[in-house]
Amino acid sequence: MPKTPNYFQNRTILITGAASGIGRATAKIFAREGANVIATDINGDGAEETATIVRSSNAGAEAIEVDVTDRAAVETAVSRGVEVFGGIDFLLNSAGAAGRRSSFLDINVELWRQTYALNVDGIFNTMQSVLPHMLEKEYGVIVNIASMAHRRGGPGHSTHYASAKGAVVTLTMGVAREFVDRGIRALSISPGPIDTAFQDISSPELKQRMTDDVPMKRMGTPQEIGEMVLFMCSNACEFMTADTVYINGGGGFR
Ligand code: NAI
Repeated sequence: MPKTPNYFQNRTILITGAASGIGRATAKIFAREGANVIATDINGDGAEETATIVRSSNAGAEAIEVDVTDRAAVETAVSRGVEVFGGIDFLLNSAGAAGRRSSFLDINVELWRQTYALNVDGIFNTMQSVLPHMLEKEYGVIVNIASMAHRRGGPGHSTHYASAKGAVVTLTMGVAREFVDRGIRALSISPGPIDTAFQDISSPELKQRMTDDVPMKRMGTPQEIGEMVLFMCSNACEFMTADTVYINGGGGFR
């Protein structure tokens, strides 16, 4: 049996939320494998830092400041990425957040709309902008970061966020099945608690409850999620599409 092929040489990934956490960890992992990285984030300086890290591994990188809720900005970023690297083979949608924690009756319309704009409209915008380029080559893998929360509903603190992540899982499945015979795969990942800046909005008490509830008694690392993105984007298991994969230390938050 031959050694694992080089799946990532001369390939390009566009990452949203690339300035921090799972997005940055995945950028480093793809750079390690020789892929070009288009690092996008609303935090332009952070995206630039990620691009600098990628270049230090001798991989190509382009940093672009983009708010995923701004459709025109997303399209401009995608066009620039295609122009610089000749195409986009992989899309990782990592930009996302819960905004703030809130019990259901205290969720105001603003928090509700912001949460859906970022977590749902964001992936709608990027997928619609990137897919035509992938379809031209009949090749592409899309990975969207959902959350364990969609299985639990986020009672008491995150129903707005949990339901938005439910939409991420369903939209990913629909896109995967619609384009299954055109060389495209789409998958989502549903992480349990991961040790990133995302958790800064959780009180120490909530963080402790989350960790206690994980059978492994720890949060996951962003690198562990990034390695799964790499596997999904390889051709090692092309039979895999549409579904969500749980990475949660053995269980979830309640
Ligand atoms: P993070 O806070 O470290 O990174 C999120 C990145 O998204 C930041 O760089 C931020 O600037 C960027 N971002 C925020 N709004 C944006 C916008 N409008 N346009 C473009 N970029 C924007 O958090 P982390 O953990 O890396 O989060 C990545 C994904 O993982 C998110 O979708 C989150 O919902 C999901 N997730 C995180 C979990 C955790 O416990 N950390 C658990 C389950 C899911």
